[in-house]
Amino acid sequence: MDKILIHGGRKLHGTVRISGSKNSALPILAATLLTKEPCTISNVPDLSDIHYMLQILSHLGGQVERASGTVRVSAESIRSEAPYDIVRKMRASVCVLGPLLGRQKEAVVSLPGGCVIGDRPIDLHLKGFEALGAVSRIEHGNVKIFASQLRGANVNLRGKNGPTVLGTDNVMMAAVLAEGTTVIDSAAAEPEVVDLANFLNKMGAKITGAGTRRIVIEGVKELHGADHSVIPDRIETGTYLVAGAMMGGEVEIQRADPEHLGSVIEAVRGSGYSVETTRDTIRVRGNGSPKPLTLTTEPYPGFPTDMQAQMCALLCKTKGISVISETIFPQRYMHVSELKRMGADISLDGHTAVIKGVDILSGAPVMASDLRASAALVLAGLQADGITEVNRVYHIDRGYESIDDKLNQLGAQLDRVKV
Ligand code: EPZ
Repeated sequence: MDKILIHGGRKLHGTVRISGSKNSALPILAATLLTKEPCTISNVPDLSDIHYMLQILSHLGGQVERASGTVRVSAESIRSEAPYDIVRKMRASVCVLGPLLGRQKEAVVSLPGGCVIGDRPIDLHLKGFEALGAVSRIEHGNVKIFASQLRGANVNLRGKNGPTVLGTDNVMMAAVLAEGTTVIDSAAAEPEVVDLANFLNKMGAKITGAGTRRIVIEGVKELHGADHSVIPDRIETGTYLVAGAMMGGEVEIQRADPEHLGSVIEAVRGSGYSVETTRDTIRVRGNGSPKPLTLTTEPYPGFPTDMQAQMCALLCKTKGISVISETIFPQRYMHVSELKRMGADISLDGHTAVIKGVDILSGAPVMASDLRASAALVLAGLQADGITEVNRVYHIDRGYESIDDKLNQLGAQLDRVKV
């Protein structure tokens, strides 16, 4: 198990290249199960979560070949059961349910367990599958779904905290091979949902409306193989945007898609940082006197919950009172107690964090608890006096490709130490 030592206080300068999107690559890799023919997916990031998905595809019978950022999957004959041992490592494994149900008309997948960021049921996924005519039940820790036939239907995927991203993906993947037309209302509109729909359409699916709250899927008999390049990771992009703002000099983020980050760029500009964009780059400069912010996380295109912790880190040393409300995962504040160990002044009131800017953060040993919380601790370490020791780095390796190398390339000093 690694830890990362961060020597704080170094200005960042230079360029950083963004990797492919984790949250797009995962459902796209799962979707390769929908055809017997080979699919080639490129710009796939080198992350532990991707490794878990490839293990699941192999276990289900897929022939998986990987060469640097390209993965080739041939799922000629597959089985329908994904075991606890692999699924427990990654919640997103749940997105093999839709492809298995769509192709095999049955699926048995271990029910994802608890998650530190909050309550994460899959009731909306099951509601969608049942609308298509499937029967589901929870048994011995597994979700079992089966259908003699899938028929297109209208389904509304709005939950208590808004639309569901993987739920929309799963129902879309089950519906592409259903008889007739499916209409998903209150669909998630994240860029990753659009990227998946684009890949499915390349395989011969008939999907329209992805990126809006209403997606229409006209079922087809079968799908064929296809090649696809995954979109840039907008949350990794947002994380380097925050790093460049808080510790810039000047940082240029390359191979990004600024279109996917409108709300984050707006917030960083709102705090007084200079942010310039081109089609695939973002250039950010530091600012000696940033302004406090009031932010609320929302479904896309609103401010992403996956950037909430990083913004907390940015606002810790921003003079004045900032307020962040988390509406997607109301308890998603595991990073707060660790930031307070570094001298931050943050008080929590229900799902709202009130951040009072301080002059100094001091380096300390801190504990990562989940992917984005650990990114926030690394960002806090960049601006702290002395050395910050981030433990349980495996959390960060789930979603950030070589974060230590990329930040060191910008002039930071991060040392990865084996424990
Ligand atoms: C995706 O998770 C992302 N994961 C998450 O990113 C991200 O935080 C989340 O979307 C929201 O943007 C991947 O894409 C792999 P949801 P997902 O279903 O799809 C409730 C990261 O850091 N809900 O959109 O699992 C749920 O409890 C990860 O990369 C139900 O009530 O999230 C939550 O409050 C963390 N019933 C809200 O909806 C359901 O059946 C949104 O969750 C499903 C969800």
